Amino acid sequence: MSKSRNQTTYTTASIVNYYAALDWLQPAEIAILERLQPQLATMKMLDIGVGGGRTTLYFAPLVKQYVGIDYSPQMIAACQQRFKDSEYPMSFEIGDARDMSQFDDNSFDFILFSYNGIDYVSHEDRLKILAEVQRVGKSGCYFFFSSHNLQALEKGLTWQKQLSINPLRIYTNLVALGLFWLFNPSLNRQKLADSDYLIVRDDSHLFRLDTYYIRASQQLQDLSQDFSQVEIYPWKSQERMLEMDAPVMETELWLYYLCQTI
Ligand SMILES: C[S@@+](CC[C@H](N)C(=O)[O-])C[C@H]1O[C@@H](n2cnc3c(N)ncnc32)[C@H](O)[C@@H]1O
Repeated sequence: MSKSRNQTTYTTASIVNYYAALDWLQPAEIAILERLQPQLATMKMLDIGVGGGRTTLYFAPLVKQYVGIDYSPQMIAACQQRFKDSEYPMSFEIGDARDMSQFDDNSFDFILFSYNGIDYVSHEDRLKILAEVQRVGKSGCYFFFSSHNLQALEKGLTWQKQLSINPLRIYTNLVALGLFWLFNPSLNRQKLADSDYLIVRDDSHLFRLDTYYIRASQQLQDLSQDFSQVEIYPWKSQERMLEMDAPVMETELWLYYLCQTI
């Protein structure tokens, strides 16, 4: 995977402006904010891949201390500008989740890596991120992140899934499907079916990003060494999934995971 392509994409002015204008919370994020609300006032929070500060708007006013990091200096500058007059205790700094050596061990009570930000590094680097989160999180620290769902990608990549009652929608869906296969020449259905995780070029930001997709079963396995109490939320829902084979698993392109460090 090309690290530089992702990092460069996240420094592009139009993309920074896009994230700096976002001001809504996703349903699964609302569920977790409400769930942790009684404890937030005592929590030191780390918001990794903070982007343009979408989640800052909601969490910074509620926590004891808030730190946002991003490996894109332009995203950090956008946050500093957006919150320059904020009355709440918050700071923003350039930082890479793969090496958070600027933070001591056991520093945070709640760590967020929202909107699939963890999906823009290689598999090895992703495991480094999990180890770093475990290190900088206190024992029992909450870690809440989302990631692209390989199971839904696999199921959605057929022409039959592009059908709709709207002919224009069918047309745009089929063009998107064709472009997907064009941008991923080494991918095929067998590889999709056999993989527990994959890096693909999907249509986000016009196929400019290398994006990691993982099966939930594999994600649970990767978390099992350092994290416990894992819960999964479809991003569009405030209800946690109680069964791994729920039909929603085949349609939701990304899933949120809430867990705690061991
Ligand atoms: C999809 S955007 C989400 C931004 C923001 N969290 C939001 O929800 O609006 C992903 C963000 O993660 C950042 N990012 C990706 N990999 C990172 C890494 N290894 N360390 C720090 N930030 C990273 C990107 O620069 C980008 O700002």
